[in-house]
Amino acid sequence: MAEEQAQRDDGGGLATARDTLTVTDNRTGETYDIEVTDGTVRAMDFRQIKVAEDDFGLMTYDPAFMNTASCRSSICFIDGEAGVLEYRGYPIEQLCGQSTYLEVAYLLIYGELPTEEQLDEWVFEITHHTFVHENIKKFVEGFRYDAHPMGMLLATIGALSTFYPDAKNIDDTLERHMAAVRLIAKVPTLAAFAYRHNLGLPYVYPDNDLSYPGNFLSMMFKMTETKYEPDPRLERALDVLWILHADHEQNCSTNAVRGVGSSEVDPYSAMAAGVAALYGPLHGGANEQVVRMLERIESVENIPGFLERVKNREERLMGFGHRVYKNYDPRARIIKEHVDQVFAVTGRNPKLDIAVELEKRALDDEYFTSRKLYPNVDFYSGLIYEALNLPTDMFTVMFAIPRTSGWIAQWDEMLEDEETKIARPRQIYTGARTRDYTPIGERTQLTDKPTAETHLIDPAAG
Ligand code: ACO
Repeated sequence: MAEEQAQRDDGGGLATARDTLTVTDNRTGETYDIEVTDGTVRAMDFRQIKVAEDDFGLMTYDPAFMNTASCRSSICFIDGEAGVLEYRGYPIEQLCGQSTYLEVAYLLIYGELPTEEQLDEWVFEITHHTFVHENIKKFVEGFRYDAHPMGMLLATIGALSTFYPDAKNIDDTLERHMAAVRLIAKVPTLAAFAYRHNLGLPYVYPDNDLSYPGNFLSMMFKMTETKYEPDPRLERALDVLWILHADHEQNCSTNAVRGVGSSEVDPYSAMAAGVAALYGPLHGGANEQVVRMLERIESVENIPGFLERVKNREERLMGFGHRVYKNYDPRARIIKEHVDQVFAVTGRNPKLDIAVELEKRALDDEYFTSRKLYPNVDFYSGLIYEALNLPTDMFTVMFAIPRTSGWIAQWDEMLEDEETKIARPRQIYTGARTRDYTPIGERTQLTDKPTAETHLIDPAAG
């Protein structure tokens, strides 16, 4: 059996002795050759390792997927040590310098840059699907005035599945294409409706004459003018920010989209799962924390004291550090270049001086350099959002808009992968085993649960 495993090679050829891992089970003295492919061993190859015939077999334990590849993917490449990010092999710097978000969305989903004709058609399709059904507008109106815009986005994206029931035909490539077009086209509309709902302002319908980011700015900020004319510098800065946020391999929300999508649910429901994951403060919420940190620091003079508090672990330097990047996050470098262009339009945000000085001092400090802590994508993006006059609640929504294309690309890839099965992890059971039911009169209290008396008496609290 072990020998058989050593012979199997998914790459097509025979595995050589060098492509295997020899494992000795000290419980039994048995030795197994486990195949190594792409620097990886398959967890299922360990199932053959048993102490008895009726043993389930050895499992691997990896909470949070710290060292487990969950799929094969050809969409996004990251070299965290070198600070490299590529989409489909194209360096992020080149894409931000020469491409547009919609072109990048096409690249992510269809795998290659479009020809001019393909791009024109793609942009036309997206532009002409930006409107949402009027009932969606009513749906948004039903939220409380102070509803979080991410909550509204999550609900409305999920609700789209009821407007496009044919999207459940996920084996139909045309349906998949239409879902991609509709999602990329409508997410900015839903985001802008959520923003204007919070402000009590009338919703602004999409303007098909404008670019993708220009139309978003119009839906957000148009007031009494007959036609909104976006500042081209803001349009470009937004487009670049969206290219930067479009995909980032198997992050928490992408994993959520793949996990939920593996049940073969429709794409709108799978994307809603992605929005839910992104909503969490450990994922999409760090840019907001950077702005709050800069507010707390207040002035450049307070930076040394703040950094001391970070080193004493009383504070965390938000927007620094990354699980994968152990070098300057390439996205942070690009965003920094666009900050000045935005401030040329909006006026300089005084927090920028604090941010620049903070970065300089941290990069000069052994505490941060020895831990390979560099600015990440969130260090400067919040300042741009703030300069655009966006409330902090909208920051994560600004992340969700471009990540939609990455989620779709990853969902599509998952559906095409012949190894895809419904995602269903194993567990190590730690609870009680078979015991007899105790009649209620014979029980002693063994558990405490939180009481929620206020919820019982306050109808507003639901
Ligand atoms: N400020 C101060 N110290 C830090 C920071 C930070 N921002 N980040 C890491 N460290 C320190 C840790 O205390 C630890 O020090 P130690 O070895 O002396 O204990 C060391 O650096 C290693 O840190 P870990 O926590 O092991 O790194 P991990 O990979 O688990 O965490 C994370 C990465 C969560 C991003 C972390 O760096 C962090 O909290 N950063 C601030 C929040 C942030 O900016 N998040 C956005 C990330 S980008 C994105 O998600 C889009």
